[in-house]
Amino acid sequence: MNPSSSPSLTKIRRHRVPVRIMHWLNVPILCAMLMSGWGIYNASPIFPAFTFPSVLTLGGWLGGAIAWHLAVMWALAANGLLYILWGIGSGHFRRDFLPLTPRTLARDVKLALTLRLAHRLGRYNAIQKAFYWFALACGLLLVLSGLSMWKPVQLYRLAALFGGFDRARYVHFFAMSGIVLFAVVHVAMVIAVPSTFWPMITGVIRRSPRDAQDE
Ligand code: HEM
Repeated sequence: MNPSSSPSLTKIRRHRVPVRIMHWLNVPILCAMLMSGWGIYNASPIFPAFTFPSVLTLGGWLGGAIAWHLAVMWALAANGLLYILWGIGSGHFRRDFLPLTPRTLARDVKLALTLRLAHRLGRYNAIQKAFYWFALACGLLLVLSGLSMWKPVQLYRLAALFGGFDRARYVHFFAMSGIVLFAVVHVAMVIAVPSTFWPMITGVIRRSPRDAQDE
């Protein structure tokens, strides 16, 4: 962080450029992956009683949906891999997503349930940290189970880890559901604390001396 003072507000550098670029790239990439994936699912649903509304699908027909899914998956995998490498290499994960212990998580869940969890701009609370790890885990499972369904013969060892092609479909579906759950709660949290939104675009947070005192 790099504070620079002004008479009333302190500017603090928050989200670094690579995080912001990779974060916002995730939005169109994820929309395209979800919508094309739902199109593929609808052609042969693993839960026959449940299909996705066709307006939420991409590609028009099975072949088109597969073409979208296989094209955009490279962007998802590359963006995800770069994010993980950068997060580890720059110390971002260690600094901002850790420490996280069952005790701090239980404390913050309790505070949130009693509406007493304060959001300190520039710091993630334990619920956010846990949720970001959850999204990373779902993303990893999505890519690995997806690869094992795409090339089940060449990547048979990977497919075997998931218990074969058919089970990999279930893993892929539930990991997708996890990401959707994450995205819905994540956006709801941003709406609940809108002051977190601009810093994710500009990279800068402005704190009043009172905010700093509250820490
Ligand atoms: C329109 C949709 C979205 C909005 C408005 C949004 C907004 C934000 C904001 C404001 C933050 C910073 C929170 C804070 O400082 O307290 C953030 C962080 C984050 N968001 Fe999103 N987000 C969106 C979609 C997504 C999606 C689709 C993903 C991935 C599945 C995602 C993953 C993350 C992650 C991992 C972080 C932590 C970034 C880091 O510090 O490395 N977001 N988001």
